[in-house]
Formats: sequence, C-alpha cells, structure tokens
Amino acid sequence: MTDQPSTDKHLVIRGLRVAPAANPDREILQGIDLTVGEGEVHAIMGPNGSGKTTLAYALMGHPAYLVKAGEVLWQGRDILALSPDKRSRLGLFLAFQYPTAIPGLSVASFIRSALNAKLQGIDKNPDIDPTDAVKGGVSMRDFRNKMREKMAMLRMDESFASRYVNEGFSGGEKKRLEMLQMAVLEPHMAILDETDSGLDIDALRIVAEGVNAMLNPNLGVLLITHYQRLLNYIQPDLVHVLAQGRIVKSGGKDLALRLEDEGYGPILREAGLSPDLPDEALLVPKGPELEHEPVEAAR
Ligand SMILES: Nc1ncnc2c1ncn2[C@@H]1O[C@H](COP(=O)(O)OP(=O)(O)OP(=O)(O)O)[C@@H](O)[C@H]1O
Ligand SMILES: [Mg+2]
Repeated sequence: MTDQPSTDKHLVIRGLRVAPAANPDREILQGIDLTVGEGEVHAIMGPNGSGKTTLAYALMGHPAYLVKAGEVLWQGRDILALSPDKRSRLGLFLAFQYPTAIPGLSVASFIRSALNAKLQGIDKNPDIDPTDAVKGGVSMRDFRNKMREKMAMLRMDESFASRYVNEGFSGGEKKRLEMLQMAVLEPHMAILDETDSGLDIDALRIVAEGVNAMLNPNLGVLLITHYQRLLNYIQPDLVHVLAQGRIVKSGGKDLALRLEDEGYGPILREAGLSPDLPDEALLVPKGPELEHEPVEAAR
C-alpha cells in the first residue's frame, strides 16, 4: 500500500479482531476502532483480561497473536504484513508490561544494536552502515553521551548500562529500562503497556516526567494503564475503556476520574454489556503508591 495523505502521521486501527495463535477461535479483540495521531496521547483503561496487552502485541506483530480481521495503518502504510522489526524501523515502539531478562547481553549493547538497526531504515539502505559513524551510524562517543543524557533524565544510575538486560532488575527498574529504550530510539508512536505498574510513587513521577519530556508533536502515545493516577502526571487527549474485546466508551480525562469513582461496572452496563464480575471486583485500583515491589521496598 502506498502513502495516503489522509492517514499519514496517524495510527489507524479499523475493525481489528485478534485471537491467540494457539486458540484461533477465541477472539480476544472483537473489533477495535481507534485512531491515534502523532502528538496525541490516548489512554486505554480496562479491567484485567480485557485485551489491552493483546492489542499492544497485535500492533507490534507478536507471533503468538493472530489478526483475524481488520487493518492497521501507520503513516498510511498497512503494517500488519510487516515483521516487528520493520514496524519498529517505521517508528513504532512497545514498552512491555512484563519485560524479559536477557542474561549475557548488556543494556548498552542491546540498545546500541536496536538503534543501529533502526538507523538503516525499513529497506536497509545499503549506503548506510550504522556501525560506521562515517556512513550514517552513531559513533561510540555520541552513543555514550546520548545514553548518559537519557539515563540522567530517568534518574538511572550509569552502572545500569553494563548490566545484563533486566537480569535481577526490580519491577520499577525494568520499567525504567523500557523508558530508556524509548528515549534513545525516539519513536513516533509509542505503546506503553502498564509502564506505571510496579512503580512506587517516586518512580512513577520520574517515569511520567520522562514521558512528558519526550512528548513532542511527532510522537503519539498509546498509554495502557490500570490507574487513574498516572493520568494526573501524563495528560491524555482521550481516554478509552476497553472491555470484553471492544472499546466501549471514549472520553476526556473525566472518564478516567469517573472510572476511579465508580469502577467499570456502570460503564459496562451503559454499553449494554453484562459484567461477568461483581462491581466490587471491577473497581479501579487507587494507585501505585499502594503497591510495593519487594526489591524496591527493601531499598
Ligand atoms: N497467548 C494466549 N493464549 C491464550 N489466551 C490468551 C493469550 N494471550 C492472552 N490470552 C487471554 O486473553 C485475555 C486478554 O489478555 P490480555 O493480556 O490482553 O489482557 P489485559 O487487558 O492486558 O490484562 P491485564 O490488565 O491483566 O494486563 C485473557 O483472558 C488472557 O488469558
Ligand atoms: Mg496486560
């Protein structure tokens, strides 16, 4: 598909239906329609198991998920046919809800490889050799400076650069590493899957300040969260409620406040759905300050 001016600079999701590849008949997402423009912040809230991570994975091309119908256009291009690395080269980024440890691979090597791969562009321009500063690559010195600057912004100790990716990291440290990757890769559309969970209130503030510092007219953000509290720090343009595989309501920040007051029950019933859990089980958790990661709490 060629570029279409009408969808350029937008992530356009239409009628997206997704099932686990291992169980193709069980559609988790049952027709998602959503458009996020560069420069916009959209929050997605929804009860546990409503399909938020499935949406994030499907957008990024996780092989465990099967797109059964619908389309996803990014900057006018149909991305569903592209491998995850190509989606990333086009400026999409996913911060994982549960980042994986990669023993033996240092944070610096990992991020440098990702940055180099991205610099080659989607068609792997043969004239660009990202490992060579003269041929369009980032020099080691520039890379180090960039890492240092971004780590300072996220208040990460520089020793993290030589540690193995996520190995022995606390929950909060893992989330900060996701943000570091985003800060260095400078995507144009970032999907942040519960980047706030596992953070204590100070870490939440640092991460939110980091995201706010990265916000610019060329960056769109899809912010998946359980907590209204995050939205006190990162102002969303729109809030969407995902439940039972669909976006059942969209609105401004008041919608998140209403969810915090009432939980999901009333909004689900308004949308004609019958919640499968009692209202008490569909309350929105009050916030990260109530959560304690054992490792962080011990520090
Ligand atoms: N690979 C898979 N195989 C089978 N079922 C899956 C798979 N991935 C997700 N599911 C199911 O799909 C539903 C939605 O899961 P998902 O992780 O997208 O929810 P979520 O909204 O991100 O939840 P949470 O708030 O707990 O992070 C769940 O019932 C989950 O068990
Ligand atoms: Mg999830």
